[in-house]
Amino acid sequence: MASLHEAKAAEATLRVSGPGPMPLTLKINGKTHKLQIEPSETLAETLRTTLGMTGTKVSCDRGTCSACTVWLDGATMCSCMTLTVDVAGRAVTTIEGLASEDGTLHPVQEAFIEKDATMCGFCTPGMVMSCAALLARNSSPTLEDVRTACSGNYCRCGTYPNVFEATLAAAKKGAS
Ligand code: FES
Ligand code: FES
Repeated sequence: MASLHEAKAAEATLRVSGPGPMPLTLKINGKTHKLQIEPSETLAETLRTTLGMTGTKVSCDRGTCSACTVWLDGATMCSCMTLTVDVAGRAVTTIEGLASEDGTLHPVQEAFIEKDATMCGFCTPGMVMSCAALLARNSSPTLEDVRTACSGNYCRCGTYPNVFEATLAAAKKGAS
């Protein structure tokens, strides 16, 4: 008969995930993906490398620039700071999932084009995800609301005035 110590050790062993790939089911942009993912892999890595969804950008890879912003159950989060195993079964939305199935762009995406709110474009997907999330929870934001919503999104090209203008224009058009 196993001792208490042996039983506890066996239980702890059963709870360990990895280090090798483990089966996961991810829900991304409404589609289910059954994958084998290493527990140390970030969501940004899974999106970009495993799934080839390179719309989500990685710049700092340490949670300071928000280039990697996606939605988790509708709320913005940094995919470079999130382990893929932790989002199994939850709804992930990326920039690829923002447009309609027929290719119609989200009003925030359209407004970014109209207001020329992008330069090199590296921050743009994360910026759009932050601004669209704001309009989903607040259809009549003030300039201050928009500034706050993308205060974590770092744009080295300095497109902020156009980003703010675009988001307010999208709100005016009734985006949500
Ligand atoms: S790449 Fe994730 S916060 Fe900068
Ligand atoms: S458009 Fe270049 S970093 Fe924002």
